[in-house]
Amino acid sequence: MNTIIEPFRIKSVEPIYFTTREERFHILRQAHYNPFLIKAQDVIIDLLTDSGTSAMSSEQWAGMMRGDESYAGSDSFFRFEETVKRITGLPFIIPTHQGRASEKILFTIMGGKGKYVLSNTLFDTTRANVEFSGAEGVDFRCAEGRDPELDAPFKGNMDTAALHSFIREKGAAAISLVMLTITNNSGGGQPVSMANVREISTICKQQGIPLFIDACRFAENAYFIKLREAGYESKNIPEIAKEFFSYADGCTMSAKKDAFANIGGFIALRDEPLAEKCRNLLIITEGFPTYGGLAGRDLEAIAIGLQEVMDEDYLKYRIRSIQYMGNQLDALGIPYIKPTGGHAVYLDAKRFMDHIPVDEYPGQALCTALYLEGGIRGVEIGSVMFGKYATDGSLVSPPMELVRLAIPRRVYTQSHIDYVTEVIAGVYNKRRDFSGYRIAHEPPFLRHFTARFEPV
Ligand code: F0G
Repeated sequence: MNTIIEPFRIKSVEPIYFTTREERFHILRQAHYNPFLIKAQDVIIDLLTDSGTSAMSSEQWAGMMRGDESYAGSDSFFRFEETVKRITGLPFIIPTHQGRASEKILFTIMGGKGKYVLSNTLFDTTRANVEFSGAEGVDFRCAEGRDPELDAPFKGNMDTAALHSFIREKGAAAISLVMLTITNNSGGGQPVSMANVREISTICKQQGIPLFIDACRFAENAYFIKLREAGYESKNIPEIAKEFFSYADGCTMSAKKDAFANIGGFIALRDEPLAEKCRNLLIITEGFPTYGGLAGRDLEAIAIGLQEVMDEDYLKYRIRSIQYMGNQLDALGIPYIKPTGGHAVYLDAKRFMDHIPVDEYPGQALCTALYLEGGIRGVEIGSVMFGKYATDGSLVSPPMELVRLAIPRRVYTQSHIDYVTEVIAGVYNKRRDFSGYRIAHEPPFLRHFTARFEPV
């Protein structure tokens, strides 16, 4: 069968409000050409993020009613703890209100000046938390991952030779930890192979460096391993997940992704003294260790969502529906990162808007064009998100200029996706009509959230 059918029925719906192109022209101007500053109601298809935007299941909503809101020792915590332990095999589970809260706690303890955190690619909040602690984040993305056109199975992998030589150069003592992001979000939502996790784990163990997994999209990654890595065809998702977690000393998780929750996260650890330190910080910043910044009902929703996300009918639909969008783009000759990843399609803005120089932010230009023409909201992942300034004030760009169209889980149907590709095609056909931007105002950290732009 070619038709992808959603493995769910829709019980409750939300309206989409339609705007005209002229209305969107004014809305964009008022939002200083930054999609983060547009009101959600003014968006037709919201592909800004797959984070916290999932549709929860009827089981999760039922769990919300069951949530035990006791301050200490809530039943919901124990259900949550048992589920995370079972999936990760890690013994110490610390709930947080979202992924970056886990990162803040972890790097406050393990980061610091003069230290390095090494990764396949750190996500922006992770990098910000590493840098905020005074440490430096260094990405070693594999060579395949740096070529947007190459169709390879595990473009999220880390370059282990580069990891090796960096450790040799700086010494293991200078390295706080290795953080492996699965799937590799900033690298195109591409998966990491089990072989790569195993190899990194061997290097880390030899050197006495802790290995952590940024597990936000662990189930999507596990499904790619099942599909693409020899020896895993007949393993189920919990078995695959358990294996990659077995190589790690801990993980951070944003339950807003592969747990279908609208809020939540956790840290899972193997080392008890480290867990103790994390809990001490948790109490000051998040809450008591059995709720950690969440309501009991959120812990229930996460526990149920973590189980549901490992269902293979769901994962098949999830990965196939993202491929479906890629296939449509292929037919139109529109450049995007190949192959499609687990949670999003990443348009290659450098080639899409090849008349706009990098220091005029082609990704931002593509993002705003998609909004103007079709009310679609995506996010720039390029020089706006990751650009730095050299001492002479010139822009230092990351290797790629991308626009991510992240697909919320269980939210949009195939006709929504057809609409999105129709809008992209329309923008592509008149791409020379769009110009670049300059930044008029920016904050010191994570500038993409609040920066203001002016058309050039
Ligand atoms: N790590 C990865 C790989 C992420 O994608 C995110 C969030 C985080 C950590 C932080 O989690 O948002 O719960 O604090 N990614 C969202 C996104 C924001 O749109 O990709 P958080």
